[in-house]
Amino acid sequence: MKLCVIGTGYVGLVGAAIFSDWGNHVTGVDIDEKKISRIQKGDMPIYEPGLSEIVLNNIKEGRLKFTTSIAEGMKDAEIIFICVGTPQSETGAADLSAVWAVAKEISNHLTDYKVIVTKSTVPVGTNQKVKEIILENLKSDVEFDVASNPEFLREGSSVEDMKDTDRTIVGSESEKAFKTMRRLYEHLGSPIIECDLRSAEMIKYASNAFLATKISFINEIAQICERAQADVSVVAKGMGLDRRIGSAFLNAGIGYGGSCFPKDVAALYKTSTDQAYDFKLLRSVMEVNLIQQFNFINKARKYYGSEIHGKVFGCLGLSFKGDTDDIRESVSIDVIEHLRGLGAKLKVYDPEAMENAKKVLGEESIEYCKSEYDAATGVDALFVLTEWSQFKSMDLFRLKENMKYPVIFDGRNLLDKSAVEGIGFTYFAIGKYTNGVKSIHEKNDVYSSAVLKNGH
Ligand code: UDX
Repeated sequence: MKLCVIGTGYVGLVGAAIFSDWGNHVTGVDIDEKKISRIQKGDMPIYEPGLSEIVLNNIKEGRLKFTTSIAEGMKDAEIIFICVGTPQSETGAADLSAVWAVAKEISNHLTDYKVIVTKSTVPVGTNQKVKEIILENLKSDVEFDVASNPEFLREGSSVEDMKDTDRTIVGSESEKAFKTMRRLYEHLGSPIIECDLRSAEMIKYASNAFLATKISFINEIAQICERAQADVSVVAKGMGLDRRIGSAFLNAGIGYGGSCFPKDVAALYKTSTDQAYDFKLLRSVMEVNLIQQFNFINKARKYYGSEIHGKVFGCLGLSFKGDTDDIRESVSIDVIEHLRGLGAKLKVYDPEAMENAKKVLGEESIEYCKSEYDAATGVDALFVLTEWSQFKSMDLFRLKENMKYPVIFDGRNLLDKSAVEGIGFTYFAIGKYTNGVKSIHEKNDVYSSAVLKNGH
């Protein structure tokens, strides 16, 4: 099939690459000339395992090309995918200006039947409005259909996710559009849910909100586990083996981040209030997510008797999760900024996100290190902030030798409690009654309420 993909962010670039890898002829479009010329050389603007090879190979095979012109990209395409960004606006709602602009531009060049598909995450009713904009701006009486085809890719594993999807959602009002979309996806063998436009749009938000709810739920269970001397990892394993619950997204930590969950949860909450409904559960999910990082920082504040000023901390992980260089809404960055605000000096390391982090964090009180061992050298304590697998297999003896004091605050439960404690570290994890927690157990929880009152 001939396809056009507008927008070369995570969704668009991975989508264009994989569609072409399936044998389709794909033109990727972006207004950013620099980005397009980088991609054409195989220099990916994002770090995504496996992506560069697929892009280069399909360019070489003549199935994948890129342009800055929508008119050129959509010329022979049967399907046009809109994959532009929908960032969070000041009200919490998604900013749809890029979607509207692209819809208008498409209508200017529409000369034969095409299916116009929104893949960007957009609130209920957006596809209907896309249809109206195109109808209003059409230059001739030409037939078209709109469809909603939300994407469920996770950064860091998006290439695999796209090939091995659990389901494909297609919302439309037209059997002709369903047929066209089936031709693209049915070879995957996984279920295709065909539904109305609005339900398709809701499926995406409801899915992300549910996963965020799972994370906030286990994070609250972790709070109780810690106080009740249970182990949240064991509890999550025991819960997850129940097929009705499932084991995914039950890893307790310092809260969810990234370009999707915070934005999508806020947007769904906004949709609920727009519909005169207060989605109370979702409000709590967001609140718990914020409190989770303060609870983590408070452990250090309690341990040091609030004397954080002048301490040197090693921080492992800057990206919002492992296997990505993306630092958007990264809780690791928030924690680092908070520790810096308390007067700590920080030695930071991330396998991929150093450059991105530098742009946001700057140089003040921060040393950018070459490795996890470098970041641990001479520090008062080590903070594990992002779930990179290489941090899991660190040489604990080497770490201990490098550090000034053997203290670890593990915000992702990456390390093995008995191994770490066995070597003589004072260890703090999430939702585990460790020797570190024991040492501060008797102290009153004065800081969390003070911090929250100050609105941090
Ligand atoms: C998410 C959705 O998973 C994906 O379907 C959607 O298309 C885009 O948003 P992504 O943002 O790439 O994907 O990351 P994800 O793997 O879902 O993790 C989001 C955040 O939750 C990360 O900060 C991660 O550290 C955190 N997380 C995830 C947890 O704290 N615990 C978990 O068990 C899982």
